Formats: sequence, C-alpha cells, structure tokens
Amino acid sequence: MLNGKRILLIVAGGIAAFKCHDLIRRLRGQGAHVRCVLTEAGARFVTPLSLQALSEDKVYTDMFSLTDESEMGHIELSREADLLVVAPATANILARMAAGMADDLAATVLLATDKPVLAAPAMNVRMWTHAATVANVETLKKRGVTFVGPNDGAMACNEYGPGRMSEPAEIVAAIESMLGASATGPLAGQSLAGRRALVTSGPTREAIDPVRYISNHSSGKQGHAIASALAKLGAEVTLVSGPVAVPDPMGVKVVKIDSADQMLAACQAAGQLDVAIFAAAVADWKAASPAGAKIKKQAGAPPPALELTPNPDILATVSRPGPQRPALVVGFAAETENLVANAVDKRKRKGCDWIVANDVSPATGTFGGERNTVHLVTAEGVEAWPTLSKDEVAGRLADRIAAQLGRPRSVKAAE
Ligand code: CTP
Repeated sequence: MLNGKRILLIVAGGIAAFKCHDLIRRLRGQGAHVRCVLTEAGARFVTPLSLQALSEDKVYTDMFSLTDESEMGHIELSREADLLVVAPATANILARMAAGMADDLAATVLLATDKPVLAAPAMNVRMWTHAATVANVETLKKRGVTFVGPNDGAMACNEYGPGRMSEPAEIVAAIESMLGASATGPLAGQSLAGRRALVTSGPTREAIDPVRYISNHSSGKQGHAIASALAKLGAEVTLVSGPVAVPDPMGVKVVKIDSADQMLAACQAAGQLDVAIFAAAVADWKAASPAGAKIKKQAGAPPPALELTPNPDILATVSRPGPQRPALVVGFAAETENLVANAVDKRKRKGCDWIVANDVSPATGTFGGERNTVHLVTAEGVEAWPTLSKDEVAGRLADRIAAQLGRPRSVKAAE
C-alpha cells in the first residue's frame, strides 16, 4: 500500500516520541521511505542515531547545517516527500504551526511545504483542552492539516483523558488513507517497479594537489531530481554523485565520489541495469600528475604549468555494445551554441540512445537555477520541451523512460 511513498516524519519533544520507532518500523515494513526531522526538544526523548538506524537515512536536526541550508534544504526536504507527519505533535509545535513561525528546521519545513500534513497530537489533557490549543487545532484544520487522535487514556503525567498519541498502527492507517486518496498526479500510470536505474549527477573534482582542484558549476539539481523521479516510479536507483549541496533524494542508493575516475568505477560497480542516465558534468580533463603535497609558491618563479590529460568518457564507455549495456542509455548535452545540431551529433558520437540537450549559456540561468529548457534527441527525431522546473523535466523524463522500457523489445531505443 505504501510502496515507494516518501514520508517526512517530524518528531517533536514529547514522551510519545518513543512510539516513533515503532511507527518508522511499520512504515518501512510497508515499503515506504521515511526521513526524519528531529526538533531540539524531540532529541531529549529519542536520539538521532536511533531514528537514523531505523529509517536508514540521514536525520535532519540542525536548522543552520551549512551543507543542507546553502541549497535551501528545508524547501528540498518538504519537496521530496509525499506527506509530512508530525508525531508527536506537541502543544508547542501546533502553536508554532498555527502562528506560521519558522524558528527551527521543523517549523520552517512545515511552513515551506505544499504537501499534505498529518498531525498526531500528544500532550497533557489540560493542554489539549486549553482554549489556545483548541483554537490552534481549529486554525490548522481550516488550513487543511489532518489530525489523527489524540486518544483517551492514562498519561505519563498521571492524569486521564484525551491527550495520548494515537498508536503507530492508527497513524499508519491515517497515512494510508491520505496517500490512497492522493495517489494520482503527473507520475501516476507508468511504473518502473523491478527496473534497475543508474543516474550520475553533479560535478567532478580533479585534484591538482591535496588542496586544489579543477571543477565546474554543476549543482546536481537536475540529476538528483531524475534519480528521485525514477525512484517514485518504483525503480531501484543508484545515484553516483560528485560533491553537491542538494540533499540525497529519498529511497535512492547514493554513492559519493570526487573524480571522474571514481565516477566511472562506481558506475561499473552498479551491476546489470535497465537504464542509465548521465546528468553529471564530468570534468573533461584532469591533472596529468597531481602533486602529492601542496604546490608552494617560489619567490620570483613563474606560475607552475598545469599539464592536463583527458578523463575517461563514462557515457561512451557504458554505451558500448555488449551484454552489460543497459537497454536504454541517456546522455545530457550541455551546450552554449548550436544546441540541436551538437546534440544530434553527440548522440551518435557517444553511442547512447537519447540525449537531453540543454542550453547552459549564462543568460539562461540553467546552471544552479530551478528551471531548464531541454530538447529530447532520440533516433526518431528531436522534441522541444517547454521551459519546466527541474523536477518537472525529471518527472517527464522518468515517464518517457517507463514508457520506453515497457515497450516490446523490437521498438526499444537501442535497436
Ligand atoms: N560525460 C561523461 N563522461 C565524460 C564527459 C561527459 O559521462 N568524461 C557525459 C555527461 O554526463 C553528459 C554527456 O557525456 O551526459 C555530454 O557531456 P558534455 O560535457 O556536454 O559533452 P562532451 O562530450 O564533453 O563534449 P563537449 O565538451 O565537446 O561539448
């Protein structure tokens, strides 16, 4: 029922936080991906380590984490999820949600989201029945937040009445009914269940010496969005990524590398694949002989000459005919002029099936930006896609891949 669904679980500070362990276990057991945001107060009741072990994903706790926040991590976190669950939803977090506050990561994610939100309240009975909480819950319900519980019962504070957090099984049932009702959308219909996919993303870094490197401006946004879209369709995805600031997509195996040589080795280690998409901006050259120690300035001496040597072409290597070749190989062409002609030529030269061509001239704002205008070049011809967000490009490409892999063998792209 929850196969492939992505739940962002926000764990606030209440004694009921311990029930999240069972909740995560149950959700994972149903095939859902769970990623946790733990508030500072929540971390007094459960540890990031326990949530990380059960969710098998990074736990987000720090609002000002440099790597995540430099790329608007709180927006990405909510964008990645199908549903946000606040459990336990304490009086404090409900008040902060109702007031629209953004004073920690959890509140900021809840304010920045456009996804459905389920809250499982847990608090002392007097706090639950207080006019302030009643008004906050009313406000949140009017804004579309769904509530499960609280239940009546004996509470940890020795009182009796409504305020106990719903049991994990009840919360799972509420999640099922919310996601069951919204299981449509642009990606519905096609499936990549049982398919194995590889995506490369981000830049590579080629060492000059232990402190300097050659690289480029790739943000990894498009490649990561593609990995995410393929996983949403049920594919088993390996994402080989250079150093990026965007968060790891949920439900995807991420292999982090630095250099093109490491990226090639990781791609070759990915095993038998149905589809491989090469969205990484691989450095074309590396230092011929990187220095083992930092290159020092010599007073009066000219700057050192940097001798370069070509990197392996990963796309061309994987595209080579043979039993290991994936059924569908998709490359990217980042061009600043003669976009379509260069892309058509690149498709043949690299031996891949499709090329997604994009104009990366500085004026387009594609590098690091949110939007992308692409052409899809196949053996049949060239399609101009409208300007879309990188997520929409990814969704559309994933749909096309699912349709292609679902076709009878005789009309597959490789033939
Ligand atoms: N690519 C790769 N390995 C490389 C270079 C590129 O896998 N060493 C892949 C990219 O991921 C992309 C495609 O090849 O899918 C095209 O990359 P691009 O840099 O645009 O093309 P180049 O082949 O480098 O051609 P040019 O620089 O002349 O445009």
